[in-house]
Amino acid sequence: MKQPHYVVANHGAIVNIASRTTARLDLALKRLPSGTLSQNIDVRSASEVENFFDSQPPWDHVILTGSSTQVGSVKNLPLDQAHDGMQSKFWGAYYVGRNAKINKGGSLTFVSGVYAQRPNINAVLQGALNATVEGLMRGLALELAPQGIRVNAVSPSTTHTPLWDRLGEEGREIKFASMREKLPTAQIVAPDDIAHAILYLATNPSATGSTVLVDCGDALV
Ligand SMILES: NC(=O)c1ccc[n+]([C@@H]2O[C@H](COP(=O)([O-])OP(=O)(O)OC[C@H]3O[C@@H](n4cnc5c(N)ncnc54)[C@H](OP(=O)(O)O)[C@@H]3O)[C@@H](O)[C@H]2O)c1
Repeated sequence: MKQPHYVVANHGAIVNIASRTTARLDLALKRLPSGTLSQNIDVRSASEVENFFDSQPPWDHVILTGSSTQVGSVKNLPLDQAHDGMQSKFWGAYYVGRNAKINKGGSLTFVSGVYAQRPNINAVLQGALNATVEGLMRGLALELAPQGIRVNAVSPSTTHTPLWDRLGEEGREIKFASMREKLPTAQIVAPDDIAHAILYLATNPSATGSTVLVDCGDALV
């Protein structure tokens, strides 16, 4: 099972990975080609995102996958957690769109989620956040087009990533089994599948303003 940065690195890119936790970054670095860079960043902070891009040369391709949001019904999810989800997923994307320095011919790819198309009663916030990311992406595709920069999004359904570790092993397997039963493909999304969609969007000169669903048919059922 490979995360997007492994697949991108295997295509010859020099990759710089960034998130909040050094230990996680170090673990990822051990599995990436030598020369891969890493840096701590919290995308909820406008100044951290600005400093991050100010300290780097321009990029060919920027991919934002990092966010952290809590699930819960609109009635019961504490408001501070809902606000934090917005800060992470929407404002993180906004700050990256505002500050990323990208070369002409390059691209910016966000990750949204299928709940933008098909709301989930237990994750109404996630659906709304994913829709804001896709709206931001389409607007930025127009705004950055004169600079020769394309902007897109990949929209996953349930994907086998560490996100689901919070359910514990048993809870995660129950969740995945119920999804496999429901989905037209009878399987859930693998991180590789997301990575390949990101690569497609980053390398296809005709792709801008696009949301690519990688959802095993989840939006249909
Ligand atoms: N997995 C799914 O089933 C699924 C389905 C639909 C949509 N998505 C979306 O796909 C994206 C990627 O999810 P995932 O499954 O890869 O989640 P994940 O396994 O929980 O990984 C999230 C990554 O983002 C980093 N991150 C979290 N908050 C951050 C912040 N404020 N600043 C910088 N980095 C941050 C985390 O590292 P640190 O904690 O060390 O910062 C971690 O590396 C998310 O936007 C998620 O909403 C996922």
